[in-house]
Amino acid sequence: MRKINLINACLLFVFCFSGHITLTAQESDAIEDEINQIIAQLTLEEKVAMCHAQSKFSSKGVPRLGIPELWMSDGPHGVRAEVNWDDWGYSMWTNDSITAFPALTALASTFSKGLSYEYGKAIGEEARYRNKDVLLGPGVNIYRTPLNGRNFEYMGEDPYLASELVVPYIKGVQENGVAACVKHFVANNQELWRDHINVEVSDRALNEIYFPAFKAAVEEGNVWSVMSAYNQLRGQYCSHNEFLVNEVLKKKWNFDGVLITDWGAAHDSKQAALYGLDIEMGTGTNGLTYSEVNHYENYYMAGPMKELVRKGEVPEEVVDEKVRRILRLMYRTTLDKTRPFGSVNSKEHQMVARRVAAEGIVLLKNEEKLLPLDINKKQKIAIIGENATRMMTKGGGSSELKPKYEISPLEGLKNRLPDHEITYAMGYSSGRAQYGMVLPPVFDQEELKKEALETVKDADVVIFYGGLNKNHEQDCEGGDRLSYQLPFGQEDLINDLAKVNKNIVVVLISGNAVEMQWEKNARAVLQGWYLGSEGGNALADVIVGDVNPSGKLPFTFPKKLEDNSAHHFGKMSYPGDSINQEYKDDILVGYRWHDTKKIKPKYAFGYGLSYTDFLISNVTLNKKTFNRQETIIASCDVKNIGELEGKEVVQFYVEKVKSKVMRAKKELKAFSKVELKKGDTQEVKGEVDVLSLRYYDEEMKDWVLEPGDYLLHVGNSSDNIRKSIKFSIVEQIE
Ligand code: BGC
Repeated sequence: MRKINLINACLLFVFCFSGHITLTAQESDAIEDEINQIIAQLTLEEKVAMCHAQSKFSSKGVPRLGIPELWMSDGPHGVRAEVNWDDWGYSMWTNDSITAFPALTALASTFSKGLSYEYGKAIGEEARYRNKDVLLGPGVNIYRTPLNGRNFEYMGEDPYLASELVVPYIKGVQENGVAACVKHFVANNQELWRDHINVEVSDRALNEIYFPAFKAAVEEGNVWSVMSAYNQLRGQYCSHNEFLVNEVLKKKWNFDGVLITDWGAAHDSKQAALYGLDIEMGTGTNGLTYSEVNHYENYYMAGPMKELVRKGEVPEEVVDEKVRRILRLMYRTTLDKTRPFGSVNSKEHQMVARRVAAEGIVLLKNEEKLLPLDINKKQKIAIIGENATRMMTKGGGSSELKPKYEISPLEGLKNRLPDHEITYAMGYSSGRAQYGMVLPPVFDQEELKKEALETVKDADVVIFYGGLNKNHEQDCEGGDRLSYQLPFGQEDLINDLAKVNKNIVVVLISGNAVEMQWEKNARAVLQGWYLGSEGGNALADVIVGDVNPSGKLPFTFPKKLEDNSAHHFGKMSYPGDSINQEYKDDILVGYRWHDTKKIKPKYAFGYGLSYTDFLISNVTLNKKTFNRQETIIASCDVKNIGELEGKEVVQFYVEKVKSKVMRAKKELKAFSKVELKKGDTQEVKGEVDVLSLRYYDEEMKDWVLEPGDYLLHVGNSSDNIRKSIKFSIVEQIE
């Protein structure tokens, strides 16, 4: 057998296979030939060894042929610190600190594809520098309930927004010769019982709500790897789900990359072999909780899979196909000799983090223009709240980071306003996280409150930094929130502070919506997310007006939990009975539910204020009647009618008038962000392909375009439509 010359293969790669160069069909055929020749030289042992972990975050290569190991790392917001070979402990390296980028909810709030690309490029450079071949992110599970402990790692409730933003992120990462790994496919929309809950959901909801961002990642982003979800879908684990992986991901969407399990999400050797799993990671073995020497040999896709091949129960070609995909991913990453070297903690990366953070912050309320602070006047500023000083890159699960630095909100403000009198009191305490548990606070809560009330007494303005944190049962992997309310007595505290000082700004640091009964007692409210290394600086940018806020909510804030559709349908809808769960809300997720059922939210999807004001006018459509091949082009003028330069996100929604099927009242189909100087006007366009107006027909198992009348709504949030224009589609049902 000819020994493969990997050098030749790599040279070929130089010209045609890396992320930034598009291949011709001939070139990719040549690579596929090389891959097949490599497979022909591998023993079954060698092939099987490539299909499962050899350590917590790597899988084996074949040293005798120069096939390298594959190295992976979390996660979506920065490259995780080095983890021990064989357990979850950190390795305590001194050269693995990185830039912490804002959480993906903040990125989603920017409504900016450009920033998503910059984010992907920067995090990809950091992953490359740290010598990682696969970056385990981004996450695009849909925001279904505000209790999901992991919403902060995802891009909100709208499939179109998530699809538009996930693609540039992936492209940015992969240009570095690092594979993005879009996760968690699919329906991992809660953390409670995530390792086993069986989700029943309609084909229509899958296709219209839960699939689109993954589909866009594959078809438009050309993502090189996908991570399966822990849960089951229709009775089969997502890691080896015949329908999800074989039928949808690999056949329908033509995914040619690697399906990697979530850590410990494989459950059966034969299914894993046959239903499309390519690499198994994180499995515990034979009921052992902790690793043992060689326990990787006991993985479902290790010894047991080899046995199935030997017995003839699994054809060897099935293993070959997995190896083919793994080698393809290697050619795109670790074997790409042209890939750039990457960089870490550069000024550029820090500035990307700061821009995303500042543009993601959402101004929810601003009575009598309390914000931005008038810093020409020397102000006495009282800062209250645990989150003013808390490091939010710690905790939260696998997305936890070890940043080179993290500017806290208090530090950021002090840096920006060195001459102002800034005092601080913690006000409340959340307790201390330890080994997945939260220990009760060591401080006396009444004393903390007393001190806070004293601190705000004669302040000109009070800034309260509260919200959630990254502890278990807050915004944290592995558990859901237990309540929709602000925790740790913050609601009472805000109400009591307001009795002493009316000028309260509340900054919510969270990745989730919270109940806001207390909001009447705050004159201004900012949604401040988890903003990474530059968080405190970015918050200061917005608070003093260096940056005019332009973030828009990527999910609805319901007034009360029962107003959310997943909760409206009761326990079987959320969280299920611990074995099964039924998505009774179907396609009516988030604003689709609130709009359709006329349930007014506290704050709507797409909502966010600015320090200036905009006027949307002259809304027109290119035509009145369209057929299926055409594109609807909506135009409008946006004028900055306020006093400051700022950015506005124009949103284009479509409604089907009198549909023969149940439809959401309206769906986001395009958005466009503009920057305008005071007094300036700009024309903005939204382009909507007619085909994107189809619904998924369960019986036909296909998309259907309904002829008839539609409305195009143009506004600056889902509940603030400035103008609606009627148009029709002339087309017979397919
Ligand atoms: C998480 C994944 C993560 C993996 C590796 C799992 O618990 O669900 O998102 O990438 O761990 O840390």
